[in-house]
Amino acid sequence: MSLEVKLGDIVLRNPVLVASGAYGYGDDYSAFFDNSVIGGFVTKSVTPRPRRGNPHPRVAETPCGMLNSIGLENSGIDHFLEREWPAVLEKPCVPILSIAASAAEEYAEMCAKAERAGGVRAIEINLSCPNVKEGGRTFGTDPRVVESILRGCRRETSAFLIAKLTPNTDPVPIARGAEAGGADGLSLINTLLGMAIDVERRRPKLAMGMGGLSGPAIRPVALAMTYRVCRTTSLPVIGIGGISTWSDVVEFLLVGATAVQVGTALFSDPVAPIEMIAGLNEYCVRHGHESITGVIGALESGDLILEGVHA
Ligand code: SIN
Repeated sequence: MSLEVKLGDIVLRNPVLVASGAYGYGDDYSAFFDNSVIGGFVTKSVTPRPRRGNPHPRVAETPCGMLNSIGLENSGIDHFLEREWPAVLEKPCVPILSIAASAAEEYAEMCAKAERAGGVRAIEINLSCPNVKEGGRTFGTDPRVVESILRGCRRETSAFLIAKLTPNTDPVPIARGAEAGGADGLSLINTLLGMAIDVERRRPKLAMGMGGLSGPAIRPVALAMTYRVCRTTSLPVIGIGGISTWSDVVEFLLVGATAVQVGTALFSDPVAPIEMIAGLNEYCVRHGHESITGVIGALESGDLILEGVHA
């Protein structure tokens, strides 16, 4: 029984990846599981220059979820590629570099730098951070801008380019724009813009007022968006959004995702990926699949749903 899936020519030992922002640069959960267990991980997004991030508090717990407003804190691409990237490349799984920027040229320049640094096989283009003014609330919601960002990146690198889409608009036209610009794959969803208030203090719980909602609360939204995007593209899709158990993973695979990313679940269950991988194995055996690929897109009545109003 094989759990292997492919993103282009890249073979993942299983479809469970750790999402950007939940895993640092691949060492954050070394006390709980080894990188040789998971399919891969996505680095915290790096930006053209260092960023200090947003003021605290930056996180707040919500029912079945979490709000964050980190603001893309990171040391910048030059520092990252010099100091962190060599160790990232040593990890025994597939590392995916995540980049975020505020202009199309900056994305392309970062791709060029990564290409020069060497070893980069996949880049996730973060078009969707809700926590910085220029980070997705504006250009990540415009298909033409997304297309031009991907086109610029495509010119600079032969790495597998994954466009990470925002849920804060209809993702289908954005997915089409990314594909037209040369994306090799899509990942969705990033967080949903959300807010929580401390009623005694009469202030938002986050210093920035609003932030990105993640966790099980958003999973049905993420699943529906993943389903719709999978029906409109032939590119491999990576499902993200509140995935916490093996059956959540199966849900995303059934609607057509090739792989998934796990993020917020790690904060409450640091061994969640191990349990997911074991559960996927058992599911495949129970359903007579020799390969997990038999589960991808195997939703019964998938076409009937398209005839509804939400197609
Ligand atoms: C953040 O750093 O604010 C979160 C990143 C993201 O949502 O893309």
